[in-house]
Amino acid sequence: MKIFLDTADLNEIRAANETGLIDGVTTNPTLILKSGNSLYSTAKLLALEYPHFESISCEVVADTAEDMLKQAEDFISIAPAITIKVPCTVEGLKACRQLSNLDIKVNVTLVFSVAQAILSAKAGATYISPFLGRWRDNSVDEIRLIKNLRSVYDQWNGKTPNILAASVRDVMQTEKSAIAGADIITIPPSVFWKMYNNILTNRGLEMFQKDWEEALKTIV
Ligand code: G3P
Repeated sequence: MKIFLDTADLNEIRAANETGLIDGVTTNPTLILKSGNSLYSTAKLLALEYPHFESISCEVVADTAEDMLKQAEDFISIAPAITIKVPCTVEGLKACRQLSNLDIKVNVTLVFSVAQAILSAKAGATYISPFLGRWRDNSVDEIRLIKNLRSVYDQWNGKTPNILAASVRDVMQTEKSAIAGADIITIPPSVFWKMYNNILTNRGLEMFQKDWEEALKTIV
């Protein structure tokens, strides 16, 4: 299971990367806006500072495949980890096909159905991003989607995209996506830090500390 961070906040990425457990980053226009940095400089800095990242997703926003490809040009030369994020639309998947023909990594975003995952696989996507939180916000069983995507890709004859569970709201969604067969989860830093927490770990640690201090007293 790989963990990507779903953020463009450089301080948050730096802090989480220090754990040694982070495999990549995903951004989108909303996250870039929140960070106050430009997408291009963020991508360049991340590629330079974290050469071990498998993927750094940079989203293109345009109405036509041609314009998406033009936008992608600026990012492609930065580093091999740079992944072009395109929407799951007719034009987005046309761009995906062309980029994947050139061996450029593509993350197809805003995926909400098996049908979209089938089209993305045919377009040669490296990753697909099913948006779990947004489905759950609308009372849809988002984990069933992951199970169904896993089942379709497991039966696929040929190469399939990595299932990159996105729009993750909490630790439970993270766990359930992993159990259902997601290859990667991309999570906000706040969810990453919460993954460490368990009340029984804290209680157990308190007890071990107390007993350790008592044990020290008995040593002559
Ligand atoms: O990776 C996609 C993600 O950033 C969207 O999340 O929270 O806006 O649904 P959210």
